[in-house]
Amino acid sequence: MNLPTLQDKLTSLSSTELIQFLQENSTEIASFFIFLTDEQLDRDKYNLQNLCYDFIDTTHFQQNRNTPEYVALLTLFVQVFEKINFNGVISYIQPHLPPNSVISHRLKAISHYKNMGSIKNYVEIFDIVMQSLQQASKYADGDEIVEDIIDYYVSGCQDLMGEKLLSFKSLFNTSTSRQKYKILTHPIITEYVHHEITEKLFVEFIEKKIYLPSPIVENIFRQQILDKINANQYLNKYEKGVIRANILKYGRANFTEPYQDISCDDKVELYCFFNMRKHFFTSYAIYEKIYASFLENIKAEKNFTFIDLGCGSLTSGLAIASLYQEKEQQSLSLNYIGIDIAESMLKKAKEFTQNELFSSDSTFKFYINWNLISDEIIEQIVSKNPFVIFNASYLFASTSLDENSLAKFVNKITQRMNSVYFIFQNPDRADRNQKYQNFKKSIRIEQEIDKAQTQKIYYKTQSRSKYKPSSEFVNYEILKL
Ligand SMILES: C[S@@+](CC[C@H](N)C(=O)[O-])C[C@H]1O[C@@H](n2cnc3c(N)ncnc32)[C@H](O)[C@@H]1O
Repeated sequence: MNLPTLQDKLTSLSSTELIQFLQENSTEIASFFIFLTDEQLDRDKYNLQNLCYDFIDTTHFQQNRNTPEYVALLTLFVQVFEKINFNGVISYIQPHLPPNSVISHRLKAISHYKNMGSIKNYVEIFDIVMQSLQQASKYADGDEIVEDIIDYYVSGCQDLMGEKLLSFKSLFNTSTSRQKYKILTHPIITEYVHHEITEKLFVEFIEKKIYLPSPIVENIFRQQILDKINANQYLNKYEKGVIRANILKYGRANFTEPYQDISCDDKVELYCFFNMRKHFFTSYAIYEKIYASFLENIKAEKNFTFIDLGCGSLTSGLAIASLYQEKEQQSLSLNYIGIDIAESMLKKAKEFTQNELFSSDSTFKFYINWNLISDEIIEQIVSKNPFVIFNASYLFASTSLDENSLAKFVNKITQRMNSVYFIFQNPDRADRNQKYQNFKKSIRIEQEIDKAQTQKIYYKTQSRSKYKPSSEFVNYEILKL
C-alpha cells in the first residue's frame, strides 16, 4: 500500500466499493499507517492531513461513518496525527467518530489533557480523563489505554511542581481511585506510580510486520476459544475491564482457585480469549528470530524436546508448531513437556494438542511441578533428545514461583547436554522480572544470544478482521545454556 493508491481509492470509489477495498486490504492499510517512518511523515504529513479532510468531506462519509471499516481507517489516521502532534486535525476528526467507539473515548480523554493551553489543571480533569479511558477500556484490547494513562501521568509529572504535583500523583494511588477506575491497578501503571517514574519508558523495536494467524490457527482459535467464549455467560455478566483486572489479574490469576461463581475451567476459557492469543503472537515473533538455528538443530538431531515452564493452555507449543508449519508446510514432530501448577490449564492444554500442527509421532507429557518429573523421564530427555528448548512465557511474574527450585531442575538437564536454549518472555516491567534475574544467577549461561529487550508486536487474532491491529509490548531474552 502507498499514499497515491490510498488517495485514489478514498476519493474516487463509491461507498460499497470502498468498504470492500478496506475489508480486503485491511492489513496492508494498517501496515502502511503504522510503519510510516519519520522521513515519510515529514514529507507526507500535509498530504495525509488533506487526504483525511477529503475523505471526511466525501458525500458517502456521513452515511457510512459508523461502519467498522470507516472507524478503523479514521483510527489509523488519528494514530499518525498523534505521533506528529497534529492536535487540530484530531479535534476535527473527533466529532465524526461514533460516540461509543474506543477511539472516541480515548480522544475525549486526550483532548482534555493535551489541549489545556497554559492552564495546567491536570488535577481537576482527573475524573473526566479516567472516566473516558475506563469507558474505552471496555471495548479495547491490547495496551493503548495503558499507554494513554501513562502519557497523562507523565505529562502531569513533567508540567506540575510542588503541592500540585504531589496531589496529582496521589490521585493515581488512592484506594478510592483504584477501586473506581480498575484500569489504574494495571501492573504497568502501578509500576510507574509506585516507582515515581516520570518519563515514558516504553522502548520500541518495531518489527515491520503485523502478525496474523494461519488458516489452521485461525480455525483452532475459532473452535476452541471463540465458540466457547460465545457460549460462556461471563462476557455478558462482567465488564471486560473487570475480567482483565479482577478475574485474570492481568495474566497473574491463580487458576487453581475459582473466582466467585466462576470455576477454574471457566477462568481458563477467559484467559484463552483475553491473554492466550496475544501471547501466541509474541511467542511466535520471538521464535521467528531463532528459526534458522532451530531448524538446523531439529534437522541434525531429529528429536527435540520443548519444556514449557508455566505452559498454560499450550500457547507456546502452538506458536512454535505454527511457525514450523508455515515455513516448512508440514506438521512438527516434538516431545512436549508442559508444566503448570493449575490442573485446569493442563486440561485445556491437552485439548489444544489435538490438531494438524503436531505430527502423529509427537508426544505430550504434563506435570503440575517440575519436581514430579521422574529420573527416568529426565534420562530419556537427556539421552534421546539432544536438542532441548526451555520456554518460560509469562511465568516469572508468578508470585508462587520458586525460582531456585526451577534453577535446580534446569541445571539437572543442562549439565548433561550441549544444545539447550532458554527462551524467556514477560511483560516489560522490572518488578515482574525480578525472579528471572535471581534465576539467571543460579544457572550456567553459555551465551546470551539475544539479550533482554523490549519489542512491540502488532497482531490480529482474525486474519480478515477489519479492525485496527492490537499491539503488545514484550520483554524477551534468548539464552544458550
Ligand atoms: C500468564 S500464564 C502464561 C501461560 C502460557 N505460558 C502463556 O504464555 O499463555 C502463567 C501460567 O503459569 C502458571 N504458574 C504460575 N505459577 C506457577 C508455578 N509456580 N509453577 C508452575 N506453573 C505456574 C499459571 O497457572 C499459568 O498457567
